[in-house]
Amino acid sequence: MHAGFPPGQTPPVPLSQETTWRQHAHTLANKTNGAQTTRTVKSTKHLDGMNDAQRAAILAPIVPMKVLAGPGSGKTRVLVGRVTHLITELGVAPSQILCITFTNKAAREMKERLELSVGAENAAAVTSGTFHSVSSRMLRKHIHLLDGYGRGNDFAIYDESDTRALIRKILVDNMNVDKKKADPGLVKGT
Ligand SMILES: Nc1ncnc2c1ncn2[C@@H]1O[C@H](COP(=O)(O)OP(=O)(O)O)[C@@H](O)[C@H]1O
Ligand SMILES: [Mg+2]
Repeated sequence: MHAGFPPGQTPPVPLSQETTWRQHAHTLANKTNGAQTTRTVKSTKHLDGMNDAQRAAILAPIVPMKVLAGPGSGKTRVLVGRVTHLITELGVAPSQILCITFTNKAAREMKERLELSVGAENAAAVTSGTFHSVSSRMLRKHIHLLDGYGRGNDFAIYDESDTRALIRKILVDNMNVDKKKADPGLVKGT
């Protein structure tokens, strides 16, 4: 696993030294919150059992960052650790955190592990899900802001094949086009 930091920035944790990264967790939490250095870290439990690269990604400063890792290498573990770190150590409001994944399975897994790590209430306040479900939720919530849309938020989202099937049905059922000649592409312009 490789945590990519913006140019000029190095991973925050001097790696491989258990006591050093624990100390670093304290320092980082204090720095980021602007609190006095006497502030004690509540827990570093979410760092237990992580390897060096995972710890670096979890403790990284709040800046755009890319973490590259293969399947089964502990990405979800890092995401959950990172969210736990943000909430419990840095005091970030759960409602300010967005966690998105590609598959329903991964989204479910992330949610379950988040609940175990930060509790059901915090986990529920984090916006999480697949790209599709989160986008659809956002659209439903804010669709009224779209000028001239003029409808409610109880819309259905059709993919390409749904769209073509519907157009074909209208052509055949309502416009008496021969079933064999109905070409949704002509109507859609694609
Ligand atoms: N540093 C680690 N030490 C031991 N087990 C780990 C470590 N990181 C991840 N795992 C375990 O490996 C499995 C895959 O981790 P996961 O975070 O689901 O990977 P990914 O999301 O990349 O597929 C899980 O059972 C997880 O608990
Ligand atoms: Mg995963």
